[in-house]
Amino acid sequence: MPTIQQITSAAFVALFFQLTSALSTQEVNVTITNSTACAPVHMILGRGSTESVPGSLGSLVTLVTADFPDANYENIDYPATDETTSDSYFVGRSAAAKQLIAYREKCPESKIVVLGYSEGALCFDDAITGSSGNEYLGNVSQPLVPIDVAQSVTALVLYGNPRHMPYEPYNVFNLTQNVTGKYPKTQEKLAYFNKAIGSVTADYCNVNDIVCASGTSLTAHESYTDVWNYNAADFIKSKILGN
Ligand SMILES: *[C@@H]1O[C@H](CO)[C@@H](O)[C@H](O)[C@H]1NC(C)=O
Ligand SMILES: *[C@@H]1O[C@H](CO)[C@@H](O)[C@H](O)[C@H]1NC(C)=O
Ligand SMILES: *[C@@H]1O[C@H](CO)[C@@H](O)[C@H](O)[C@H]1NC(C)=O
Ligand SMILES: *[C@@H]1O[C@H](CO)[C@@H](O)[C@H](O)[C@H]1NC(C)=O
Ligand SMILES: *[C@@H]1O[C@H](CO)[C@@H](O)[C@H](O)[C@H]1NC(C)=O
Repeated sequence: MPTIQQITSAAFVALFFQLTSALSTQEVNVTITNSTACAPVHMILGRGSTESVPGSLGSLVTLVTADFPDANYENIDYPATDETTSDSYFVGRSAAAKQLIAYREKCPESKIVVLGYSEGALCFDDAITGSSGNEYLGNVSQPLVPIDVAQSVTALVLYGNPRHMPYEPYNVFNLTQNVTGKYPKTQEKLAYFNKAIGSVTADYCNVNDIVCASGTSLTAHESYTDVWNYNAADFIKSKILGN
């Protein structure tokens, strides 16, 4: 199966980053804080379908909290069930917008980091950009997040985004430069996304991922935190520190 080889090569790249990172798994012993109190660094999480809170992204929150001990996080409040047979996407899209806007209004000084995996990535993408339209995801729609709020986000990390688009500078390692996700953006929405938040985005999409890369591998879709967390934590750290 080509999938394993492809994941393995991605794993080698990630291993390089793990070895060169200041942190190792053994050293990370921090408690993550679920709170909407104003913190220097606040993470807002959109978990993947079927995950319970905080979901696999909790492990990335742990790494970021190791770097920034006063950081806290919240999950977007949504069912995370199948978007084709439930209203999960619509609930998640509005929750993503509502919670991001509310935190920004309450805590203007905080650095906000948005993390989305799979359906959670879709919810944030469409909250910020508007829907590109789909039989399950409704008609093309306007952004729910004002552009100044989107532009105030410090970092956006997307794992296995169903709205993945190729040939963008924020696609980490260009792993999937020639394919789109299962729900591609329109060119207009892509241009808007890039203007609103592209400069602080890191999009991780594994080769052959069934959701973001028009592939056939569920394993590729389920390996993001294992393969990319250290790389993503370094990205977030560099954005928070402003370099
Ligand atoms: C992690 O830290 C807590 C509190 O400081 C401590 O009680 C616990 O033993 C530590 N765990 C490990 C594996 O080091
Ligand atoms: C985080 O807090 C919210 C709001 O109080 C709560 O609904 C949710 O279950 C908490 N999540 C975790 C992982 O503790
Ligand atoms: C999408 O637009 C069509 C045509 O304007 C309309 O009939 C339909 O109800 C709309 N669907 C949704 C989910 O809003
Ligand atoms: C990714 O592709 C772009 C052009 O599409 C190129 O400029 C960039 O160097 C590539 N990045 C990597 C890490 O290969
Ligand atoms: C996309 O690129 C990958 C890696 O270069 C290659 O293995 C794959 O066949 C390409 N897929 C298509 C649809 O061109």
